[in-house]
Amino acid sequence: MKIISVVGARPNFMKVAPLHRAFEAAGFESLIVHTGQHYDEKMSDVFFRQLGMPEPDRYLGIGSGSHAEQTSRVMIAFEEVVLEEKPDCVLVVGDVNSTLACSLVATKLHIPVVHVEAGLRSGDRRMPEEINRIVTDSISDYLFVTEESGIVNLRREGVPDERVFMVGNVMIDSLVSFIDKARETNTPAGLGLEKGAYVLMTMHRPSTVDSNEGLEKLVATVEQIGARYPVVFPMHPRTRANIKKFGLAGRLSELPMLQILDPLGYLEFLGLMDAAGIVVTDSGGIQEETTWLRVPCITLRENTERPVTVEMGTNELMDLEPERVAARVVERMTSPGEKGTTPPLWDGHAAARIAETLGSLRWKNAA
Ligand code: UD1
Repeated sequence: MKIISVVGARPNFMKVAPLHRAFEAAGFESLIVHTGQHYDEKMSDVFFRQLGMPEPDRYLGIGSGSHAEQTSRVMIAFEEVVLEEKPDCVLVVGDVNSTLACSLVATKLHIPVVHVEAGLRSGDRRMPEEINRIVTDSISDYLFVTEESGIVNLRREGVPDERVFMVGNVMIDSLVSFIDKARETNTPAGLGLEKGAYVLMTMHRPSTVDSNEGLEKLVATVEQIGARYPVVFPMHPRTRANIKKFGLAGRLSELPMLQILDPLGYLEFLGLMDAAGIVVTDSGGIQEETTWLRVPCITLRENTERPVTVEMGTNELMDLEPERVAARVVERMTSPGEKGTTPPLWDGHAAARIAETLGSLRWKNAA
C-alpha cells in the first residue's frame, strides 16, 4: 500500500512522525509531503531533526498568506503530486489549512482520505480550524478519533459508524517516545528555572493576538502573573510581530521575571512543559500534552474542541480577564493536589492501531 501523509504546520510534525514509523514497520510505502505552510527553521526544520523524521519526499514551499491564498496554493501544488504518485490513500492530521487543502484535492481525484484527529469540535465557526475540521471530516473516508466526543460529534453529523475508529492520540505517541530525551535537555535549569516554580505561557490565536484589545489584555495578564512568578513565554512569530506593531513590547521588557523566547524545539518545549508549575495557553495540542503530563493548564479560550482534557485531565477554560486569570494561577500553583487522569488509549500506541486498521482495509489500487 502506498500512502501519502501530509504535514504543513508545526502541530502536524509530532503527529505524523509516529505514523510514518508505524507505516514503515507495517511494510507500507510511506511518503511524506510537506506543504511548507510553516517554513522557518524554528517552526519546522528542528521538528524533523528532533523527531527523527526523514526529509520530506516532496516540499511544496507554499509559505504564508491569507487563508484563500494559502489554501489554494497548497491545492494546486498538491494536486500535481497526487497525480504523479497515485497513492492508495492520502492521510491528513489535525485542523490546519494544509489539512483542508489536501483532503479536498485527494477526494476530488477519488483517492480515499484518512483523517487523524477527526471529530473534534469547538462549536465556534469563527475559528479557522473549526471550518477546516468540519469540511475535512465531511469528505474523509476513514476517521480516526482521539476522544469520545469525536465519536459523538461525527455521529451527530451523519458520518456512518463503520468509518470511525477510536484509536487514541498520535501526538501522545510522540510525547511517550520523547519525554526522556526532553528531560535530558535540562531546559528549565538552562533558563534558571526551578521545577514546579514557574509559569509557561504560549498564545498565538488570531482571535486574541490580532487585535489591540486582545493583546492589551494578554500583556496585562503577563504583567500580573509575572509580578508573582517567573514566566517563560516562547513566542509564535504572529504574536511577536503584533506586540511590536501595537507598541506593547516596552511594557513586557520591563518585567524582570519574564523571559520571552523564540519558538522552541520539540524537546526543549516538552521539557519546559513537563517541569512547569502551570501552563497558560490558547493552543489545542498543549491542552492534551499537559493532561498526559498531569501539569495544570489554563486555556484562555471560550471553548475547547478537546473536552476530555477538562473532564478527565488538568485543563480548565477561562476568559482572558487579567486579574481573574492571575488569581487562578496563584490558586493552582499553591494547591498541587488536583492531578486528573489519562484519557482512554492515550498510551503511546495510537499510530500502531491506525496502521493495523489501514492494513486490514481493501484498497482499490493494491495488488
Ligand atoms: C497555524 C494554524 C493553527 C496552528 C498554528 C500553530 C491554520 C489556519 N492555522 O496558525 O491552527 O495552531 O499554525 O503554530 O492553519 N510565520 C513565520 N514563520 C513560519 C510560519 C509562519 O514567521 O514558519 C508567520 C508569518 O508571519 C505568518 C504567520 O506566522 O503570516 C501566521 O502563519 P500561518 O501559517 O498563517 O498561521 P499560524 O498562525 O501559524
